[in-house]
Amino acid sequence: MQKHRVAKTADLPPGEREIVTVNKREIGILNVDGTLYALRNVCPHRLGPLCKGRVRPLVVWEGETNIGHERENEIIKCPWHNWEFDLKTGKSITDDSLRVRTYRVETEGEDVVLYLNGR
Ligand code: FES
Repeated sequence: MQKHRVAKTADLPPGEREIVTVNKREIGILNVDGTLYALRNVCPHRLGPLCKGRVRPLVVWEGETNIGHERENEIIKCPWHNWEFDLKTGKSITDDSLRVRTYRVETEGEDVVLYLNGR
């Protein structure tokens, strides 16, 4: 497992994100309400810049006419065609056969550290 210091915690407060390139992979690091997420910045639909999308709740139907929201700030919406992905697992909400790669990310002192398997 490779460990990469990709940002300073002070540069990534809640609500902020950074796109970093590690081993030729573009990876988005997002701080959502104090929780860090890391996922590949390539949407599996048509290769859009997924990590530049809005973070949203999951929109659900409640009955036949009302919509509600669940899982506040756990969904990212691709800016190109609005496909939605679970920030924790990378699974697509739109097509459950698709997922985007997610990575382990943690703070270590003043650093934000990303862990990659393999190359
Ligand atoms: S490229 Fe992301 S939804 Fe189409």
